[in-house]
Amino acid sequence: MDRPSTFYSTVRTLVRSEFGINLSDKTDLYLDKKLRRVMSKTDIDQIRVASASRGARDELRSGVIRKLATAVTINETYFFREYQHLEAMVAEVLARRPTAGGRFVRILSLPCSTGEEPYSMAIALSERLPLAGASQVRIFGVDVDAAAIERAQNASYDRRAVSRLPASVTRKYFEYAAAVDRYNVRSDIRDTVKILQGNLFDLPHAVRALRFDIVFCRNLLIYFDDATKARAIRIIRDLVAPGGCAIFGHSETFPGLAEVFEPCRINGTTVYRRNR
Ligand SMILES: C[S@@+](CC[C@H](N)C(=O)[O-])C[C@H]1O[C@@H](n2cnc3c(N)ncnc32)[C@H](O)[C@@H]1O
Repeated sequence: MDRPSTFYSTVRTLVRSEFGINLSDKTDLYLDKKLRRVMSKTDIDQIRVASASRGARDELRSGVIRKLATAVTINETYFFREYQHLEAMVAEVLARRPTAGGRFVRILSLPCSTGEEPYSMAIALSERLPLAGASQVRIFGVDVDAAAIERAQNASYDRRAVSRLPASVTRKYFEYAAAVDRYNVRSDIRDTVKILQGNLFDLPHAVRALRFDIVFCRNLLIYFDDATKARAIRIIRDLVAPGGCAIFGHSETFPGLAEVFEPCRINGTTVYRRNR
């Protein structure tokens, strides 16, 4: 390792202040490997500059921050992950009785990583909603990692990504491109999902200005310390429309969650409802 430990503490501080992610228990070697894999030497040298100009919005700094996000985030996700959450989401949507010409039901997948979560939502809904109702649902996927977002927008997956799906679902909702051995999400499913790059702590106006009937925030808060979790929960609460709900990952419970949301059960799954 050829960098002083102050370099890694600069990186940690920057990562924490920008994305809320707490890297303090990771070794410098681990961080070094990830940075080298994703960033060039110049990018890495720019980290100190980016750190010093905190709050500035110049292009160079945002480029470094974007690459840093790719270097430090964990994008692990898969189709139909914790299917009972998708069932709870479908039940919530059905309870809102979406009809053609009625108001849109809005769902947010934050973080959406490489897109498997929002497309799983669209597929689960398509299985259960009459066509007219399905057209009244809009799903948004947001993630801080620009590289993951690009893959989500491409909506093209390898064999491993679809391996947990029932074959009938893969046949129905994906178009197989034999020449490249890829499974492409059917275009009508893609059309119900809008994918955007954004940081939970600095959301683009297009997301911040909306209120969502259902917000999925699974497997993100686990990377934050308690103070950042509390901050994140308040942001998520503001994104949920009154009467709507948030769904967190399995066994994710956080201090202060029940003060901001009311836990309730849908088909055996705990969801967190915003009452006011
Ligand atoms: C483990 S994945 C979870 C994906 C999906 N929700 C799931 O449960 O399968 C975590 C994602 O959080 C994203 N992330 C980390 N910090 C973020 C932040 N501050 N704002 C938005 N996304 C963030 C990462 O880029 C990564 O793709």
